[in-house]
Amino acid sequence: MQPDGFDLTDRVALLTGTGSGIGRATARTLAAAGAVVVGADLDPDAAEATVAEIRAAGGRAEAHRLDVTDREAFDALVEGTVERHGRLDILGNIAGIPHNRLVAEVTDDELDRVLAVNAKSVFYGCRAAARVMVPQGRGVIVNVSSGAIDTPAPTLACYAMAKAAVAMLTRTLATEVGPAGVRVNALAPGVIETNFSRQHFVDETGAVVPERLEAYRKRFGQMAPLRRVGTPQDVADAFWYLVSDRAAFVTGQVLRPNGGVAMPW
Ligand code: NAI
Repeated sequence: MQPDGFDLTDRVALLTGTGSGIGRATARTLAAAGAVVVGADLDPDAAEATVAEIRAAGGRAEAHRLDVTDREAFDALVEGTVERHGRLDILGNIAGIPHNRLVAEVTDDELDRVLAVNAKSVFYGCRAAARVMVPQGRGVIVNVSSGAIDTPAPTLACYAMAKAAVAMLTRTLATEVGPAGVRVNALAPGVIETNFSRQHFVDETGAVVPERLEAYRKRFGQMAPLRRVGTPQDVADAFWYLVSDRAAFVTGQVLRPNGGVAMPW
């Protein structure tokens, strides 16, 4: 039994990036709250593994291969979800890729790729969902931005400008669809320990090096008043709140599960 207002029984939730990290934790969390999870990821095996975990725990989920930069495929997945399940209650644009390069060294291809995966794909998802949710008269969208929008840092230009676009898209869309009863919010997580940050704690073969993992946790953890890096569950819980009825009056906001590392007004 979920605490009153957090129950998501039978809500249909389409989430991207469910093969790993924040997307996987969010898929598990929403399914445990009763949602039917439609999980999409570039890596179909990873998305299937998440579905297997959810089903083993008694939840309902299905996995799809999706490259979020493919707008026709994204549209088709949204349409297919509505055909199969009758509606779309929740969209989570979670998939994203890291990028670190000094502006002077960024290639055109890199710039295009980071903007395509981290910004344009979110637009595609929002547009497809708005077309369903506005006529439905209800729905909730959560876009994953990043703490990179709060603190400028060397090598983060492409990533941060994409994530700033996500935050502004969120706010703008909230003004457009609010009158129809649709809410749109963003999450701007701080440093979260997932595959996204593996570069900091693996060796050349990709294996986790315990000493490097500890150094990563210490280095990034001490930047936050709560003195630790975040877990995927920290973000999934914030996501759950935003899509729950407990957040019924919350739209156009950027919520920051970041340990207090940035505190914009
Ligand atoms: P992750 O690397 O653990 O998971 C990302 C997932 O997205 C993977 O399963 C990957 O296969 C999928 N993906 C990548 N490109 C895709 C594409 N073109 N189409 C479909 N799926 C694709 O990363 P994590 O940490 O879970 O990141 C999730 C989101 O959170 C991203 O948008 C990231 O930018 C954001 N974020 C992460 C932070 C962190 O410290 N981990 C901090 C702030 C934001």
